[in-house]
Amino acid sequence: MGQQNYIIREFKPDDLEAVVNINRICLPENYPPSFFLEHHYENPKIFLIAEYDGKIVGYNMCRLEYGISNIDGKLARKGHIISIAVMFEYRRRGIGSKLIEEGLKRLKECGATEVYLEVRITNYPAIALYRKMGFRAIKIIEGYYRDGESAYLMVREL
Ligand SMILES: CC(C)(COP(=O)(O)OP(=O)(O)OC[C@H]1O[C@@H](n2cnc3c(N)ncnc32)[C@H](O)[C@@H]1OP(=O)(O)O)[C@@H](O)C(=O)NCCC(=O)NCCS
Repeated sequence: MGQQNYIIREFKPDDLEAVVNINRICLPENYPPSFFLEHHYENPKIFLIAEYDGKIVGYNMCRLEYGISNIDGKLARKGHIISIAVMFEYRRRGIGSKLIEEGLKRLKECGATEVYLEVRITNYPAIALYRKMGFRAIKIIEGYYRDGESAYLMVREL
């Protein structure tokens, strides 16, 4: 996989501008800066960024939720991957995988027993990444996105 000149670390408020920028460039789902800060304040350990040679090139923002399990229908502590992206020039170097791997490890430490996410049914790179990381699609959420595209709900145990 080549040299790994990057580190994965927790988001800090100073990273806000960089993360908002990556989100706008890489994804159609954009959020106000306050949304990112709220996640950081509520779940500081599971909002991660990737820094490559000192530059912020990716992030994985997760949340811890308590509700009905997507696996057995009982109440469960669930991790939710809210938003993840890696800048174009830094893709296919394992950074996305590492962001997920570290997120999963930390979600487990926070008590989550499963993780879920939504992904556009045509987002093949992301679906391939999630499959590789052990997620499986358990249902289609019709018209989930604002433009009408449907999502796969993908889940994995921790
Ligand atoms: C999805 C995303 C985060 C992946 O980041 P990444 O750093 O390139 O991921 P990795 O290098 O760890 O890739 C891991 C595996 O995912 C799969 N994958 C990643 N990009 C792929 C692509 N373009 N085509 C096919 N498979 C792909 C491959 O199996 C890859 O392993 P390999 O390189 O050994 O073949 C990145 O493409 C991205 O930011 N996309 C735009 C934002 C987005 O769609 N986010 C997800 C929203 S739900």
